[in-house]
Amino acid sequence: MTIAHTERWRQFVHLVDSIDLQHIMDTIDEFAGVSITAADTEGVTRLAYSDLDIKARNRIITLMRDAGLNVRVAPIGNIFGKLTSRCPDKPVILVGSHSDSVVNGGRYDGVMGLICAIEATRVLHNIKDELTYPIEVVDFAMEESSRFGGDYGFGSHVMVGEVIQENRLLRTDKNGVTLAAALQNIKRLNNYPRLDDSPSEILAAGFDLIARSQRSPEEIKVYLEMHIEQSVTLEEQGVPIGAVTGAATPTRWEIILTGEQSHSGTTPMRVRRNPLLAAAEIVLLADKLCKEQETQGKGTVGAITTVKVEPNVQNIVPGKCTLLLDLRGPNQVHKEQVLHTLNDEINRGSRSICARYDVECTINWLANEKPIQFSSTICEAIEESCTVLEIPSIRIHSRAGHDACHIAQLVKECGMIFLPSRKGISHHRDEYTAPEDIFIGAKVLLLTLLQLAIE
Ligand code: HGY
Ligand code: MN
Ligand code: MN
Repeated sequence: MTIAHTERWRQFVHLVDSIDLQHIMDTIDEFAGVSITAADTEGVTRLAYSDLDIKARNRIITLMRDAGLNVRVAPIGNIFGKLTSRCPDKPVILVGSHSDSVVNGGRYDGVMGLICAIEATRVLHNIKDELTYPIEVVDFAMEESSRFGGDYGFGSHVMVGEVIQENRLLRTDKNGVTLAAALQNIKRLNNYPRLDDSPSEILAAGFDLIARSQRSPEEIKVYLEMHIEQSVTLEEQGVPIGAVTGAATPTRWEIILTGEQSHSGTTPMRVRRNPLLAAAEIVLLADKLCKEQETQGKGTVGAITTVKVEPNVQNIVPGKCTLLLDLRGPNQVHKEQVLHTLNDEINRGSRSICARYDVECTINWLANEKPIQFSSTICEAIEESCTVLEIPSIRIHSRAGHDACHIAQLVKECGMIFLPSRKGISHHRDEYTAPEDIFIGAKVLLLTLLQLAIE
């Protein structure tokens, strides 16, 4: 399906002057304040399905309504705000991002693109009868994997019909709350169709919410997401807009090392089976293998990003260590080379890490997403918007995963707009994108929506 657009959209280019940048910046700052940590000094922490997440997303519902959008909430919490058109039954131009954050993160990741999408549709509401296709803003639930680990983009995965395994719903946060139990919290979202008195068994209710949150490809013509780059390319090249060609995607392992818990004072060194020693070698090995790939120009990056030690007390040699590996790359073969070597060195043969420390190892695959290509048609529409505004743009590849990577599996015409991140900093309190760049981005987003929605 091509993006058939005429020149009719050009008569509405003046609408970029109706974008209210102050409202966008005030709203981004307002959301930064909905956090269990102090945004300026510690960063933003608003984890998915937490009370603060519900509070923020109730505010998204209000903002969508204030923009004149018709709001619906999918049972797992994806929020949709629809701007109708002169052909209300046509498939929608879906545009959005996510409003949850990582732990101690920045205020622009996800929220910036979502607020700009709401602002752009608020402006387009004035010409809704000129639009061919309805435009629908989406706030995807739980894009970040910060609360439960595992794969990212839960809400977008559910929407495209990804099979959600039971072990994903049973993953727990640091307080032992399962994702299935956390899902129940969205009953507190306004405009939420009341859950029936669902069967006592929360897991069954979780699967029921998931089953009722999928959407079919016929409903969606295009998906467009604006997001901060979270790296340094745009800033280094002094260009305010990136038309995203594709994205590296994660392969994630949970590596469970089991040794023998023992007294740290009385157990002779020669008999200890300490999984933390094996963990230390694996942390360094993952780093070494990825650095080797970087020197070979292969582009795979990765790290062991968390180590859970049990029982994690000073006078006990640990019995168990659980590591999370996050490996990303634009080339699946190169990613698999790292995984293959890692697995061999951990598990295979008498010289393996597990053999040398006399520990067992279980590797659970939490994600194994293939790299994504976005639509060149959407890139061309983004570049045309920049041409009209006399703004430079470049084509750029995303090193981070985004909801768009999941939607691309359902919707062929899928694309992203990137804005510069100062020093490439993200997932950190110092994450920053300048207001003037956000203003440019909102204008490009609006003109791109015009091209896509008007025939
Ligand atoms: O992990 C990512 O790339 C994104 O922040 N979810
Ligand atoms: Mn993020
Ligand atoms: Mn994000």
